[in-house]
Amino acid sequence: MNPSIGLRPYLPQDAALLVAIFIASIEELAADDYSVDQIAAWTAPADDVVQFGARLAGQLSLVASVDGEPVGFASCKGVDQIDMLYVHPLVARQGVATTLCDALEKLALARGAKHVNVDASDCAEPFFLQRGYSAQRRNTIDLEGVWLGNTTMRKPLAANDPAPPAP
Ligand SMILES: CC(C)(COP(=O)(O)OP(=O)(O)OC[C@H]1O[C@@H](n2cnc3c(N)ncnc32)[C@H](O)[C@@H]1OP(=O)(O)O)[C@@H](O)C(=O)NCCC(=O)NCCS
Repeated sequence: MNPSIGLRPYLPQDAALLVAIFIASIEELAADDYSVDQIAAWTAPADDVVQFGARLAGQLSLVASVDGEPVGFASCKGVDQIDMLYVHPLVARQGVATTLCDALEKLALARGAKHVNVDASDCAEPFFLQRGYSAQRRNTIDLEGVWLGNTTMRKPLAANDPAPPAP
C-alpha cells in the first residue's frame, strides 16, 4: 500500500485528466481480458469529455492522487452502485483502488446503504472478490454493437444484511 495516496472530491477541471486515466487504465490493465474491439467500445465515452465530466459530476465521485497528481478515480451512482473505478497502470497494485473503495463504501454506509453493488469487469473481479464482494449474475452488455461481459457483484455493508446466495 502506497502511504502517499490522497483522496478528494471530483472537480470539473479534472475531467480531461481523468479521461486520460480512463483510457490508459482500460487499454493496459484490461488488455488480457477483452479484445481490441471490446476495448475500443469501452473507451468510446472518452471521446466526449464534457459528457464524461457530467457523468462524474452527477455522482459521488472521488479522485485519488499520489504526490498531488491524480492517478485514479471512482464514482458511486445513487447510494449503493459503484459505477466507475479506474487506476492508472503506472500505479497499479499500490492500493489506489483499495483507498477509493474504502472511502466509497464508508460513504455508502453513512448514506444508509445496506450493501454496495458493482458490475465488475473481468479484470476487476479478483479485486472485488478479495474485498468481500460475491458474484450475483453474469451480464453481457451491448456497447454500440460490441458485446462485453461483466459480473454483478454485491458486498453487504451491515452485518444483518448478508449477500443473497449466487444463482
Ligand atoms: C481493478 C483495478 C481498479 C484495481 O486497481 P489497483 O489500484 O491496482 O488495486 P489495489 O492495488 O487496491 O489492489 C488490492 C488487491 O486487489 C487484488 N487485485 C487488484 N488487481 C488485481 C488483478 N489484476 N489480479 C488479481 N488481483 C488483483 C489484489 O489482491 C490486490 O492486492 P495485492 O496487490 O497486495 O495482491 C485496476 O486494475 C483497473 O483500473 N483496471 C482496469 C479498469 C477496470 O476494470 N475497472 C473496473 C470497472 S468495474
